[in-house]
Amino acid sequence: MFRSNMMDFAAEEQVFYPDISFSIRANVRDTRIYDWAGIDYEGFWATEAEQLHWYRPWDKVLDWQPPFAQWFVGGKINACYNCVDRHLSSWRRNKAAIIFEGELGDQQVLTYQDLYREVTKFANVLRGLGVKKGDLVSIYMPMIPQAVVAMLACARIGAPHSVVFGGFSAEALRDRINDAGAKVVVTADGCWRRGKAIPLKQNVDIALTQCPSVEKVVVVERTRSEVYMEPGRDLWYHELMQQAPIGCEPEVMDAEDILFILYTSGTTGKPKGIVHTTGGYLTGVTSTHRNLFDLKEDDVYWCTADIGWITGHSYIVYGPLANGATVLLFEGAPDYPARDRFWEIIEKYRVTIFYTAPTAIRLFMKWGEVWPNGRDLSSLRVLGSVGEPINPEAWLWYHKHIGREKCPIVDTWWQTETGMVMVAPLPGITPTKPGSATVSLPGVAVDVVDELGNPVEAGHSGYLVIKKPWPAMLRTVYKDPQRYVDQYWSRFPGLYFTGDGARRDKDGYIWVSGRVDDVINVSGHRIGTAEVESALVEHPAVAEAAVIGRYHELKGQAVSAFITLREGVAWAPELEKDLKAHVAKKIGGLARPEEIICAWELPKTRSGKIMRRLLKDIAEGRVLGDISTLADPTVIHQLMNKKSAF
Ligand code: WTA
Repeated sequence: MFRSNMMDFAAEEQVFYPDISFSIRANVRDTRIYDWAGIDYEGFWATEAEQLHWYRPWDKVLDWQPPFAQWFVGGKINACYNCVDRHLSSWRRNKAAIIFEGELGDQQVLTYQDLYREVTKFANVLRGLGVKKGDLVSIYMPMIPQAVVAMLACARIGAPHSVVFGGFSAEALRDRINDAGAKVVVTADGCWRRGKAIPLKQNVDIALTQCPSVEKVVVVERTRSEVYMEPGRDLWYHELMQQAPIGCEPEVMDAEDILFILYTSGTTGKPKGIVHTTGGYLTGVTSTHRNLFDLKEDDVYWCTADIGWITGHSYIVYGPLANGATVLLFEGAPDYPARDRFWEIIEKYRVTIFYTAPTAIRLFMKWGEVWPNGRDLSSLRVLGSVGEPINPEAWLWYHKHIGREKCPIVDTWWQTETGMVMVAPLPGITPTKPGSATVSLPGVAVDVVDELGNPVEAGHSGYLVIKKPWPAMLRTVYKDPQRYVDQYWSRFPGLYFTGDGARRDKDGYIWVSGRVDDVINVSGHRIGTAEVESALVEHPAVAEAAVIGRYHELKGQAVSAFITLREGVAWAPELEKDLKAHVAKKIGGLARPEEIICAWELPKTRSGKIMRRLLKDIAEGRVLGDISTLADPTVIHQLMNKKSAF
């Protein structure tokens, strides 16, 4: 939970109205869109779907057998065709689809025609490797154009992709490949990070010692570092592409065929494969991308998310490309070679729409406005925020120093599961309040309810739920429909539970406070506490572990671990280092605990349940709540003494 978001009531009263000069040219100008879409949401989404190319129209907009939805039933469509081929019959053929900026300053522009050539060639490569409709392909890649090409090639031949974030460890990759049962893995030798070549293929090699389903690995040459190539299994991308023909007939897909699965953390140790299908997903992301960012033909759109997260899927690849946008893709870090790299890129390419995360904005604030002030940011016209609650201070800084007080800010609330943005302002018509994602988008029904599932009154807090199905909603959890039902549809009968807490203000605006379940949001990345706990207890020194997310000024939340040791093991600074490295090895650097606190016992209730709420209070230095249910209250004093060490 982001504290200042909850405390800063003064900022809540500050309202920013859309500028008239922006509004009169905006894609969405008429506030009645909310009413119209509210009354006939199926009709609204059908109109949005009509903007795409369908091989066969749907028979029925929505088939809702709670909690299982099918959208555009009977419709036939191909996502890749919509993102690429559709643009070739107009002048857009020669429009830049992707402008790539590498970490070392190298650049590459792919027009839609270029994209068509690369994608169809790679689709032929995949088919040549035996990938058929319905076969899964895992993608473990840096932020380079070939990652987009690989995703679109999969979509073209009807092979669902499972992109695994390049920051995940070999073991995390292994588990995701095995759960998906991937036949082919697409990867790169490495990627550039702050001027250094980071290996990726090595992780694939380790993972594949335990992945029986994988037959072939395609390796893109990026860093030219030396890599091991397993004969008969590993193939170079550039060699395969040399021989591949241009042009590849797209598979005619059912609207409800799987487009991709994407793993995300949940409340148990095992990541969930979130399933997204084709027609509804593409409708949702294309429509929201066009309306939210007020996309115009000559915009240069830049989303700084990684391709390995849902934001990369929906708002770097599918939404923008289906809209025929020019998308900027950046491989690297914001502070290499200097702390103005982002602003340098905006100046260099005259970026007009910029979409980033609050954690990045807080970092820029810390570095100071001297960095953006030194660059020409006058091309910017719309700013976006995603991934976690944006605190009003960061919102105002973003508005002033990046938007130069003339760009609307769209704070977009959504999840891997929702596939598309759900709560956000429409920049031409919705007044904004710093720190609030405002209200549900047209055709979307998000609400805040109490324990019993009844809407809360103005000024009250509760749980964030979704009341009606939406086209880009997850369809199920891969191979685990029961988990889908239990996780999302059991807490409140008939309502989708997001796992987030929120408050509704007197104007009906929604203020999301953060997760209320066992999921931590570190710099906008979701991490399950159970995943980190199970990694810790796998270490021979650890007996018990409890992990919580604590407030962190820059990251929003940080992973804080409390452990007890096995008999005979002594606590030492080296062990703490070792345990942190162990978690990074098991999951990835993003899950590395900020601190590990060793105790002789963890605070438990008399029935043996670890009291995480107390641990959170301790980690955040708050006055402790009720400790009367503790089996042994003296444990608390010991923990509080330990805490003073960080
Ligand atoms: C949080 C990222 C407040 C929220 C697209 C959600 C936000 C989780 C916002 C999903 C926002 C995302 N305001 N909180 N604008 N955007 N969140 O699946 O807790 O990586 O449940 O999807 O991030 O994270 P995920």
